[in-house]
Amino acid sequence: MLAVVLVGGEGTRLRPLTNHLPKPMLPIVEKPMIARIVDWLAAHGVDEVVLALGYKPDAFVDAFPDGMVDGVKIHYATEPSPLDTAGAIRYAAESVGTRQGPVIVVNGDIVTDLNLTDLVHFHKESEGLATISLTPVEDPSAYGVVPTDSYGRVQAFIEKPEKDKAPTNLVNAGIYVLDPAVMNLIDSDRRVSVEREIFPLLVERGELFAMASDAYWLDTGTPERFLKAQLDLLRGTRVYGNDIDYAEKRGNVFLSPGAELEAETKGHVYMGFASKAERGAYLHDAVVGSGSFVAPWVKVIGSVIMPGAKIHEGAIIEDSIIGPDAVIGAAAEVKNSTIVGAESTVSSGMLLDGARHSL
Ligand code: GDD
Ligand code: MG
Repeated sequence: MLAVVLVGGEGTRLRPLTNHLPKPMLPIVEKPMIARIVDWLAAHGVDEVVLALGYKPDAFVDAFPDGMVDGVKIHYATEPSPLDTAGAIRYAAESVGTRQGPVIVVNGDIVTDLNLTDLVHFHKESEGLATISLTPVEDPSAYGVVPTDSYGRVQAFIEKPEKDKAPTNLVNAGIYVLDPAVMNLIDSDRRVSVEREIFPLLVERGELFAMASDAYWLDTGTPERFLKAQLDLLRGTRVYGNDIDYAEKRGNVFLSPGAELEAETKGHVYMGFASKAERGAYLHDAVVGSGSFVAPWVKVIGSVIMPGAKIHEGAIIEDSIIGPDAVIGAAAEVKNSTIVGAESTVSSGMLLDGARHSL
């Protein structure tokens, strides 16, 4: 089965991390998000994946130079200019020629345990041209909202409605099963949005179906959710993708080879390869990436330290993301969904509150 994964977006809400790496190449506990998606697809019979590329395509090609990710063949389709979601789907699918049967489409920033096999089965049984996976969320206004009838026939597709105007809390999970005939509905010479144009068109024709699931699902596109995706993996909230088996597990602490942990810990903590957290430091729900260093009297709470970062004495990192090879000065305070970019320095004693820092 063929899958198209949409990975061409700019990931603006995760800047400055995405200034260097496209969002799906960012690690979720040290493994690129895209590799986690491909593993999940492979578990449901996908043996060929086309990456619909736009923003920073080289990052993907460089990361997987032999065109394989965990045993799945990867094709690359780079749009000459961004074609938006539907345009990208058509461009990517056509770049590999025709295939028998339906095509799976996935947004490249999703982590999920969804039973894709069930979704494909539901699609084949329905009379539709396309089937969307739905997931319940607290605030539907950030998503595509999808009311259906009792047979699963979609009644409307409302992309990002105003707050409190959504008719249901079931939203588009960014996972679709499409008949090849859908491609013919997409103009190939302009930007076309699947959410704003193609799904509404299919609704009008009565050919769009959807199936809800309460399996684990998260869009990682905001700092809060990017953090949550990683901590959920440590907590075991996800059934699928708990592949941190190279690490020694001591209670709720994962210790990768070469990691040195002398700090006090609470909750779930991951220490990457050859990372070090000194005595007197405190780690509470934290991912400490490979080769990172945490000095004495540092507190890391609900945060992710990406590989090679250095956190100096007495700094406090709370609910924030520290980019690869960044340096946090002594007694600095970084909190409230701050993102510090790759190789950036935060001066000693500096306060960053909900900031985007890339100096
Ligand atoms: N190749 C390509 N070209 N990819 C694109 C383009 C493009 O022009 N534009 C966006 N993408 C990719 C992004 O990289 C991402 O993987 C995916 O399309 C969706 O874009 P996001 O920017 O993450 O959209 P969103 O999260 O606001 O909303 C979408 O996902 C929600 C579920 O997470 C919509 O599909 C919503 O309806 C949905 O609920
Ligand atoms: Mg998204």
